[in-house]
Amino acid sequence: MPVTQRRVLGTDGPEVSAIGLGFMSFNRSSDDAEQRVASELVAEAIDSGVTLFDTADVYGPEHSEILLGKAIAGRRDEVVIATKFANALDRDTNPNARDLDGRPEYVRTAIDVSLRRLGVDHVDLYYQHRVDPRVPIEETVGALKELVEAGKIGHIGLSEPGPDTLRRAHAIHPISAIQNEWSIFTRDIESETLSVARELGIGIVPFSPLGRGWLTGAITSRGDVGERRGHHPRFADDVFDTNQALAAEVTSLAGDLGVRPGQVALAWLLSQGSDVVPIPGTRTLKYLRENVEATSVVLESDHLERLGRIAAQVTGERSIRPEHLGIEAPPLAATPA
Ligand SMILES: NC(=O)c1ccc[n+]([C@@H]2O[C@H](COP(=O)([O-])OP(=O)(O)OC[C@H]3O[C@@H](n4cnc5c(N)ncnc54)[C@H](OP(=O)(O)O)[C@@H]3O)[C@@H](O)[C@H]2O)c1
Repeated sequence: MPVTQRRVLGTDGPEVSAIGLGFMSFNRSSDDAEQRVASELVAEAIDSGVTLFDTADVYGPEHSEILLGKAIAGRRDEVVIATKFANALDRDTNPNARDLDGRPEYVRTAIDVSLRRLGVDHVDLYYQHRVDPRVPIEETVGALKELVEAGKIGHIGLSEPGPDTLRRAHAIHPISAIQNEWSIFTRDIESETLSVARELGIGIVPFSPLGRGWLTGAITSRGDVGERRGHHPRFADDVFDTNQALAAEVTSLAGDLGVRPGQVALAWLLSQGSDVVPIPGTRTLKYLRENVEATSVVLESDHLERLGRIAAQVTGERSIRPEHLGIEAPPLAATPA
């Protein structure tokens, strides 16, 4: 069943499918075999009504944008492409590159590289992947605003910004979306950033909506975690059993409802408001179909209450470096007299 539900991110668009597709795990290679997997998945997603595709310049780095660009070739008008900048990785060629770079000159360079990899003349939503703690947000968003005016990007987003930084950014140019981790397992956004976003009419794009796989029922033993997720603190040996028991509660509710656990996780997010558009990541056609069908799962208030108690018991930190979360950008320097 295709996703027919559409949601608008921010006060001026873009309009997107209620569920998007995260492309982070296409990070291994961009060879022909990988391109076939990516192209088949993207074709199926578009045919299923998915319009929002989420990538970043650091996924790979570079493979994800290349694969997505080729996969949407010929169907550019049917999709909303979101990509991200901020992690300067070209230390070999640029000795001044920093881990996080929000300087206007970097913004201008990064978009051109992303456009080239994607093979498009504009992206629809361009996120700052992490706020640069050394650059006033006014300068970064000022440069992004120029990219909007130049037609290189349609809309601006921020990922995991500090709440005051979000306000300051929005004062320079409307921010269409924030992309923060949000799921039954991770609810930090609800402490402050969510209410700021809602006050300003900014859309919410939850990343890792399936708890990086925890909420799909597919992980029942340490052996299911795999090498890629093995380093995430919430899959560590000492917390595995606690978190598995919590994930099993989602699986149990899904069983009661006759749906898949991942669908419960996505339906929980969709029920949080019409401004929420989760972007589950998958490489697998079967999972894509399941995730898309989550839009028709209805959760009653007692289900939401049951699920609402889980996050407080989850053990282990998130996998994002804490110093990169909720960064407040420094103030603009006072203009010299
Ligand atoms: N802004 C940021 O800082 C940030 C950070 C992380 C992620 N993201 C974005 O958010 C997207 C999603 O996040 P994520 O990939 O970290 O986590 P996620 O969506 O919570 O989980 C992805 C994992 O779940 C598995 N999966 C997906 N659907 C499934 C299903 N129906 N049944 C069983 N397993 C399923 C995937 O397996 P397979 O891949 O094997 O199919 C993958 O291992 C990323 O692709 C990326 O675009 C953004």
